[in-house]
Amino acid sequence: MSDASQPSGPDLAAGITESLLADGTMLVGHVGPKAVLVARRGSEVFAVDAKCTHYGGPLGEGVMVGETVRCPWHHACFNLRTGEAIAAPALMPVHCWRVERTDGRYIVRERMKEAQRRKPDTRTASGKSERIVIIGGGAAGLAAAEMLRREGFGGALTILSADDSAPYDRPNLSKDYLAGTASEDWIPLRPTEFYADNDIDLRLRAEAVAIDPGARSVKLASGESVTYTKLLLATGAEPVRLKCQGADLPHVLTLRSLADCQAIIARAKPNSRAVIVGASFIGLEAAAALRQRQMDVHVVAPEARPMERVLGPAMGDFIRSLHESQGVVFHLGHTVSAIDTRQVKLEDGALIDADLVLIGIGVRPRLTLPEKAGLAIDHGVLVNEYLETSSPGIFAAGDIARWPDPRSGDRLRIEHWVVAERQGQAVARNMLGCREPFASVPFFWTQQYDVSIDYVGHATAWDKIDQQGDPAARDVALWFRRNGRTLAVSTIFRGRESLQAELAMEQGRSPEAR
Ligand SMILES: Cc1cc2nc3c(=O)[nH]c(=O)nc-3n(C[C@H](O)[C@H](O)[C@H](O)COP(=O)(O)OP(=O)(O)OC[C@H]3O[C@@H](n4cnc5c(N)ncnc54)[C@H](O)[C@@H]3O)c2cc1C
Ligand code: FES
Repeated sequence: MSDASQPSGPDLAAGITESLLADGTMLVGHVGPKAVLVARRGSEVFAVDAKCTHYGGPLGEGVMVGETVRCPWHHACFNLRTGEAIAAPALMPVHCWRVERTDGRYIVRERMKEAQRRKPDTRTASGKSERIVIIGGGAAGLAAAEMLRREGFGGALTILSADDSAPYDRPNLSKDYLAGTASEDWIPLRPTEFYADNDIDLRLRAEAVAIDPGARSVKLASGESVTYTKLLLATGAEPVRLKCQGADLPHVLTLRSLADCQAIIARAKPNSRAVIVGASFIGLEAAAALRQRQMDVHVVAPEARPMERVLGPAMGDFIRSLHESQGVVFHLGHTVSAIDTRQVKLEDGALIDADLVLIGIGVRPRLTLPEKAGLAIDHGVLVNEYLETSSPGIFAAGDIARWPDPRSGDRLRIEHWVVAERQGQAVARNMLGCREPFASVPFFWTQQYDVSIDYVGHATAWDKIDQQGDPAARDVALWFRRNGRTLAVSTIFRGRESLQAELAMEQGRSPEAR
């Protein structure tokens, strides 16, 4: 819903009768051309912009929980009273509107000039003598820095990032940006002035090479040392490289950074051939994006069905047929044995022409720094429920962190954008003394062509999948169950159902098929 589109729903400036808005419900109307969401909790009525500040999701199709609303697209959560984006992936607040109650009608008046800022928690709004250093300018690092300032942290704040670019929207690199349908200004997570305005010392091309927990200092590749009182490690993961002859040729690429994406785009000529190795999320999103650039796309992967291990056979078959309907050719059950400047050779000797080879066979967490610093590691940096590592004052978040999941009792390390951002936000609050256990339900989405698949929870193995609807009809929900309990729910175009599953898991209930 854009501001330019025809406003729908009732004219909220003229007002609606009280009976139209029952307690605990929301509706979308408009004030002039602006879409506005009104929501009632008890005797109070709130009004906020109806569009999510992440990618513009329709908040009216989301779920109201207490005095918050959750977005149906990627589960951001906004406080209805203040507009604050209290849970990622949205970082910016929505605007609030003033509501008047006159003669049994709710009338929405003017939009408040500034989003209502919550007063920083008195527990956190201090720390002038503190110096917080964040290693990593990605999802977790930026979300932590933003939340530290939002919470009123008044000390020094530095982000050390090995990247050339300020924090950007990494998920977009295999979707619209790679497809050529997103403009450059979609990519930065925050505008350039954000860092100066919030007194965040963002240092790019600043690779940390060692941490000395005793001296509380970080050494950079440049030789410089930076001291800290608290440290966040958020160095993410790096693509696994293919080990075969020719894997280091210049047209054999991986996709993690903006620079990687730009290198792929530079070689993505219409009618040339891309061979994608690995039917991973990134590989398949890239396949969809490169088809939009009129490339001829082949996918080579050892499994029988794409994504079956995560999404089950029905979704796997659908994903395959979705790509095939767009002209992608799969070579499933195969591996690559060699690459030369013109062709990819499979283990059975078959040859596929290739102008560009994209390796998407997974990632591994960047653990060298914490390992060398003597932090406890076990398939990730071990953290407690507050995301603090074995070394007091050093926290870890995002793709590198392995945390105790309160629902399953297992330790999880998950490579999802929203998890990384929410962990960054949780670390910020915990660094400031809130001591809030990280309890967010994992969520991810993948976008391939015009289909978005959502997934809440975490299931590595299941004994049953309940299904309602049909992936081919682009309307489905799948419940991944083990021992009678739902561990995860995957949906296509059932945003509200996905949110309700998330809520059930948060509340310790098992989401059930209805
Ligand atoms: C192309 C692509 C598409 C994706 N799409 C989705 C999606 O649709 N949905 C989803 O849920 N997830 C998606 N993901 C996964 C998601 O992006 C990651 O889970 C998330 O970025 C992890 O955040 P992070 O902060 O841990 O690491 P990152 O975002 O990778 O950030 C790590 C940062 O650390 C910096 N760094 C590394 N080492 C050092 C060092 N020694 N010194 C200083 N800085 C260092 C890096 O330069 C980078 O800035 C996608 C990932 C990729 C690559
Ligand atoms: S559009 Fe709302 S969370 Fe992404």
